[in-house]
Amino acid sequence: MNNLKLSCPKCHCFLENSFDINYYFCSQCKIKFKKNSFYLDLCLTNNSINKVTETAYKIYSKFYAPFALLVYIIIWHGNIFKHIKFFREILDYDKNILDIATGDGSLTSAALFSSKIKSASNLLVLDISKEMLEKAQVKFSKKPVTFIRGDVNQLPFANSSIQAISCFGGFNSFPSGALAMKEISRCLNKNGILRGSILLTPETSWKKKLIRNWIKKGYQTEEISKDKFFSWVDSAELYVNKIEQVGYVLLFELRHRKNAA
Ligand SMILES: C[S@@+](CC[C@H](N)C(=O)[O-])C[C@H]1O[C@@H](n2cnc3c(N)ncnc32)[C@H](O)[C@@H]1O
Ligand SMILES: [Zn+2]
Repeated sequence: MNNLKLSCPKCHCFLENSFDINYYFCSQCKIKFKKNSFYLDLCLTNNSINKVTETAYKIYSKFYAPFALLVYIIIWHGNIFKHIKFFREILDYDKNILDIATGDGSLTSAALFSSKIKSASNLLVLDISKEMLEKAQVKFSKKPVTFIRGDVNQLPFANSSIQAISCFGGFNSFPSGALAMKEISRCLNKNGILRGSILLTPETSWKKKLIRNWIKKGYQTEEISKDKFFSWVDSAELYVNKIEQVGYVLLFELRHRKNAA
């Protein structure tokens, strides 16, 4: 993302370096965005749903990786090797990646930096949780990574500005999968690709109950069926170019519809 210019998450105008070197500035909205120790804070969100998710992730981030892997296998019957392989294949398309909802960075670093043959040239990591970004920073030390605290519903990028976007596991945590898909589609270049995953709600009743409980607590936000996912894709003027299902994990590659405006 060497040449990528960051935009205001509200009006999408390009951000300027402010006189005060600790800030970026939107001259249209007159908003200052803070450059923190290792990440840029480009998040405007103050709505209650996001606050709940963020608070939940403050706790979750402390024991995220082992817990997430365990439930991924037990509840969703996922296969982590297929998952990482599917993620890594985004590098065949572009070596500059925007990764949305990176979490603690375990999966993203395994997919984009652990192979001797294929590795990302530049990675932009975006997550709403400061605690997750702090964990991810440790995973990506000495790697070509830029960290942004941002909200998927108000991405700090201009229209069509990104060629390759990954978003694995994020849609189950966003306030609205439908809105997130539209916002990602806005930033995705007309020839670009989005690779990601969603966790479908399993049929078993105790699993359903458990997931509904996690939704109440804010660890997840909504139940996702295949039909619901396809309707998000359609409303965002995208189409499914590739799809793989492993257990209840859906791995997908999306592109812009050719006839989209
Ligand atoms: C389940 S984790 C996924 C982590 C990682 N990609 C993985 O697959 O292991 C979901 C992440 O989404 C982030 N998240 C939740 N709401 C968000 C939002 N509105 N904008 C950006 N990130 C968000 C959370 O902070 C959390 O780190
Ligand atoms: Zn602005």
